[in-house]
Amino acid sequence: SAMAEERALAMVTCTAPVNIAVIKYWGKRDNDLILPINSSLSVTLHQDQLKTTTTAAASRDFTEDRLWLNGEEADVGHPRLQACLREVRRLARKRRGGSAEDAAPLSLSYKIHIATENNFPTAAGLASSAAGYACLVSALARLYGVEGELSEVARRGAGSAGRSMLGGFVQWQRGERPDGRDSLAHQVAPETHWPELRVLVLVVSGEKKQVGSTAGMQTSVDTSPLLKHRAEAVVPERLALMMRHIRERDFEGFGQLAMRDSNQFHATCLDTFPPIFYLNDLSRHIIALAHRFNAHHGRTKVAYTFDAGPNAVIFTLADTVAEFVEVVRCSFPPAANGDQFVRGLPVGAASLPEELLAAVVTEPVPGAVRYILHTK
Ligand code: DP6
Repeated sequence: SAMAEERALAMVTCTAPVNIAVIKYWGKRDNDLILPINSSLSVTLHQDQLKTTTTAAASRDFTEDRLWLNGEEADVGHPRLQACLREVRRLARKRRGGSAEDAAPLSLSYKIHIATENNFPTAAGLASSAAGYACLVSALARLYGVEGELSEVARRGAGSAGRSMLGGFVQWQRGERPDGRDSLAHQVAPETHWPELRVLVLVVSGEKKQVGSTAGMQTSVDTSPLLKHRAEAVVPERLALMMRHIRERDFEGFGQLAMRDSNQFHATCLDTFPPIFYLNDLSRHIIALAHRFNAHHGRTKVAYTFDAGPNAVIFTLADTVAEFVEVVRCSFPPAANGDQFVRGLPVGAASLPEELLAAVVTEPVPGAVRYILHTK
């Protein structure tokens, strides 16, 4: 460079969280820019239990771009990864054009090496692409000294990744512009706003084969009249309502709406042609269990939500965790294979009253839930 001496090597490491939508994103109006047909709202999960860690390095001595996912080399040419890389470099170029404060800029022409890993098994079926792309974009941005709004870039990796750029309660606004400049994530409330909120991921046993989100939502957009109705008429009202429940820390309102929205998302999957089935018998069993538990207590104490797979994510408050975990343990007696049944944050002991057992634990299915991950 004629401007300043360039560094020969730079390396950064970042982490990023998983997020779970309570108003679901399903359907794009632009496949290339990843612009959604409706806004969505999610809860970002704590990184102690679920996170992606990515190290990105750029060097004068690298001869090609390379990528490793959980220790295995993977295709660096993936179009979405390339889109993120291109966008971060574009922002870096723009920033450098504006000021010369960076004494030793990293050459944008150096090849890069990226290594990324999750602290949770892929079998957990948790949207690892959201944490993965959020982490990739954070690492690249730090590497090139880019700051500011980056959800727009992460969105180019996976729609839901834009929401993992922020903590707490996050809204992804669909935006109106065709270029997507207003399709961004915003924090609705920080994590400190509702410290009692807890999350239980019920990892179910069984097959992993399913339709991916990208292909599934495309077929839904093409064929489901219910999805169109949802995006136009249902989601706008639900978003406003959900934000109010969060603002007021109204768990019953929050939980009921989260369950309804998950159910409507899966209804649009059934309305897709050919239909898509993400829920299985066990998912439905868990849904029924949650409703029996709430009915027994006479109020909404637990709420389920499901994404593009059969694992249940349960929202509840700290004072209900021990009792509900015991209900799950009795309903799905764990196989005595030495595996830890409850993982993550500690769960206290609870003994279930006789009436609760009789009313809620109806037909136990041994071994059906592999383990529970407790997080917040
Ligand atoms: C069901 O973000 O994985 O989890 O944008 O095509 O990469 P692409 O899809 P992705 O979709 C997530 C869908 C969902 C709902 C949600 O997280 O809002």
